[in-house]
Amino acid sequence: MSEPIKFFLPGPSYVPEDARQAMTKPVVGHRSAGFKDFYVRLSARLPTVLRTAGDVMVATGSSTLMMESAVISCVRQDVLNLTGGAFSERWHAISKSLGKAADKVSAPWGQAIDPDLVRSALRRKRYEAVTIVHNETSTGVMNPIAEVARAIREESDALILVDTVSSLGGGRVETDEWGLDVVLAGTQKAIAAPPGLTLLTLSERAAERAAKVPHRGFYTDLLRYLDKHREGGPITTPAVSLFYALDVQLDRILAEGMEARWARHERLYRRTAEWAAAHGCEYASAPDARSVTVSCLRAPAGVDPQAIVKGLAQRGYTIGGGYGDWKPTTFRIGHMGEVRESDLDALLAETDQILLNLTPERVAAPAAR
Ligand SMILES: Cc1ncc(COP(=O)(O)O)c(C=O)c1O
Repeated sequence: MSEPIKFFLPGPSYVPEDARQAMTKPVVGHRSAGFKDFYVRLSARLPTVLRTAGDVMVATGSSTLMMESAVISCVRQDVLNLTGGAFSERWHAISKSLGKAADKVSAPWGQAIDPDLVRSALRRKRYEAVTIVHNETSTGVMNPIAEVARAIREESDALILVDTVSSLGGGRVETDEWGLDVVLAGTQKAIAAPPGLTLLTLSERAAERAAKVPHRGFYTDLLRYLDKHREGGPITTPAVSLFYALDVQLDRILAEGMEARWARHERLYRRTAEWAAAHGCEYASAPDARSVTVSCLRAPAGVDPQAIVKGLAQRGYTIGGGYGDWKPTTFRIGHMGEVRESDLDALLAETDQILLNLTPERVAAPAAR
């Protein structure tokens, strides 16, 4: 992979050329012996990425489909949604739209979920499941999933449904060690494959509980995914070409190794943080809750964050603007997937120039090393 990366959206992220090329291979029948072999080899590598001894499935559909499927399959009535940003609010919106009795424990945007508040909520009422987003892409907050999951396990028998959409493959996710029941993640973020697929695992106790939930739908029934997976295939006609690209990325991820990948993302975050501190860009996320895959930054005083986004676009670089209510005040740098330190340095050097043009009185500081 030699091409410089100039695409720093907090998802979808840059997809390497060999993964893109793989999508030009001929499409085959998804019930053919050839595809079955391919599927079995592909899915055999996924538990290493999700750190589970369980089955990991690949769904054709974006992560929202699997968020909805998890609620449909695991919750009859009572669900607790832990919120603190746009995507955790999505779990709540999904729960309510399905007619569930959904309560919320909310952290202010930019703050992590407080495990003690979760404990208190679980003492007040029994819930079948608790939903949480590991990495809030909208705010750049990484929640302390291990602590929150421990609190949930100690206080209740609620299933723990976790969105690791923008952390898996970038930040540490320990499905089994942390006792998570459903873990889902799209392929378009730190996995650096194209959008359109979602990786998913469910624990044995989640499967047992789901078996007792009626009306799980067809495309939304997690047990159907599990059954078909165990037969060696997907539930319906899959996006075969996307699977080819995922296959290439899985080889790349496993060649790098999970620990090395997490360490690289940590370094990317630290470099961004050093640069931000030197340039008057404050993190919008609390210091103890920062994501290693996306930095959500406030522009320096008097600078419109959109001007930074536009300035970079004129120079061929893509970053994200702020999300929702934070659009007017923040911008987001996605440092995830295959981004290398050299790519990030080049982006930050360009951003220096833009800030200098926007605030000429400011003396340009060198890009963080
Ligand atoms: C944390 C998180 N959860 C869920 C989603 C929704 O994913 P999708 O658009 O793939 O359905 C996103 C998308 O950006 C996300 O960042």
